[in-house]
This record gives sequence, C-alpha cells and structure tokens, in this order.
Amino acid sequence: MAEIMSNIQVSPGVFRMKIAGNYEGRMGQFYMLRSSGMEPLLSRPLSIFDLQEHYIEFLYQVVGKGTHLFAGLKRGDSLNLLGPLGNGFPDIQGRVALVGGGIGTAPLYYSARQLSDAHVYLGFREETYLVREFGAISSQVHVKVGGSILDDVDFDAYDHIFVCGPTGMLKAAKLREAEQGYSGNLYVSVENKMACGIGACLVCRVKAPGGGTKRACVEGPVFLAKEVDLDD
Ligand SMILES: Cc1cc2nc3c(=O)[nH]c(=O)nc-3n(C[C@H](O)[C@H](O)[C@H](O)COP(=O)(O)OP(=O)(O)OC[C@H]3O[C@@H](n4cnc5c(N)ncnc54)[C@H](O)[C@@H]3O)c2cc1C
Ligand code: FES
Repeated sequence: MAEIMSNIQVSPGVFRMKIAGNYEGRMGQFYMLRSSGMEPLLSRPLSIFDLQEHYIEFLYQVVGKGTHLFAGLKRGDSLNLLGPLGNGFPDIQGRVALVGGGIGTAPLYYSARQLSDAHVYLGFREETYLVREFGAISSQVHVKVGGSILDDVDFDAYDHIFVCGPTGMLKAAKLREAEQGYSGNLYVSVENKMACGIGACLVCRVKAPGGGTKRACVEGPVFLAKEVDLDD
C-alpha cells in the first residue's frame, strides 16, 4: 500500500494525484491502481504523469466507478499500485512531436521531461489544463480548444510523432500517415480496457493488420501505428 500525498482537481472532473514512494518507469508506461476497499475488484490502468525521487504522479479523468473512487481519496489515504507495466515510448533521437487529446495529455508530461526538445501539442474539447506546466518544460507548446489538434501538426517537420488520445484521434493520425506517405515514425498509445495488466487475461487485445492480436498491456500501450489495426 502506498500513501497519497495530494489529490487535487485541476479542471472539472480531472485530478492530479501524488503518491509517496520510490518508483520506476519509462515514458509511456503505466501502473495498475486499486483503492484499498473491495470495490471495484479490478485495478484501473493510469499512465505515469510524472516521476520524481520520492513520489509518482497520475493525471486522471473521472469516468466511472473506479476513477470516481480515486477522486474521493485524500492525503494520508492509501492505494495499491502495480507497475511499471507495458511497453512505453522508445528512447529516440531527432525531432519529436508529442500530441495529446484531452486526458491523453497525461503520459506526455513525463515524456516531454525526458525528451527535452520535444514540441508539445495539446488538444482540449472545452477547458484547458496544465498548459503552464507543459510550458515550463517545453520550448514549444501548441494548444487548441475544439477541433483537431492534429491539424496543427506538420508531420514532415518531425522524425517521430507520439499521439495519445481518443481512438478517433489515433485513427485520424494513422489516416494522415497513410495519405501523406509520412516517412517518420508515428506511435500511438491505446487506452483499451484492462483487467490484469500483465498479459494473462487477453481483455486488452488490439488487432494487428493482416490478422492476429497484440496485448495492449504487454506489447503496448505504445505501438508503431502501422503495427495495429484500430478499426472495430
Ligand atoms: C495504458 C492505459 C493508460 C491509461 N492512462 C490513463 C491516464 O493517465 N489518465 C486517465 O484518466 N485515464 C487513463 N486510462 C483510462 C483509464 O484506465 C479509464 O478511464 C479507467 O479505467 C476507467 O475506469 P472507471 O472505473 O472509472 O470507469 P468505468 O467506465 O466504470 O470502468 C470501466 C467499466 O468497464 C468495466 N471494466 C473496466 N475494465 C474492465 C475489464 N478489463 N474487463 C471488463 N470490464 C471492465 C468496469 O467494471 C467498468 O464497468 C488509461 C488506460 C490505459 C489502458
Ligand atoms: S489486461 Fe490482461 S492481458 Fe492485457
């Protein structure tokens, strides 16, 4: 069990939770979190928002039972954490764009801290959050409210593009890659439902082009876009 240091609302329904302890993890990896009571039975996956020497941070949106319970936790309460899990964003060189939609911005903060000259693109449906924090770690932060932030990204200006957001946004990025014949590496981070987080239950399967499946919790959640089929 780990102790919560703070759990602060940064925008309506969006919370930033700091948990004490010494943790590890690469950009794009995630932890499975579970509150100490019996409900809900399954842990919920959350990306690493930030890691410092004596704590880990998560940024999450309240959607259902599990995240609603997280939102009610206070300083001094405790949580069970399992991680770091999954295949994160690779260590790369070159010009990088980090593109996030809504709560898909969560894994990009730690990524931007690791990749000091990455350009950040943040898309929000209504209210923005943590834009100032991103501005403190990246020389270029582009923000859009409404519409598609992908439209603001000149794909050819980057060697690597990392997109995290709703499935529609990931599909749109894949389409752009194909139509434009983008020659760099487009990565997508998928947010499939997970039960075990460790490769045992197959709940999190993602289709692979040409047949077969991959597990989002082990082979992902970060994939080269051309290695996954995001259609239902
Ligand atoms: C790798 C990864 C990283 C993520 N990172 C973040 C992040 O940083 N911030 C963020 O806000 N969100 C993130 N998400 C999404 C987040 O995990 C979901 O929003 C959260 O799990 C929703 O849980 P809930 O109980 O609040 O919502 P609900 O909608 O209540 O939970 C999902 C519903 O589906 C059911 N369910 C859940 N999992 C399963 C399952 N495996 N099998 C069957 N039923 C299931 C639940 O019982 C529940 O009924 C991430 C997801 C993934 C996969
Ligand atoms: S969540 Fe169980 S195999 Fe991925």
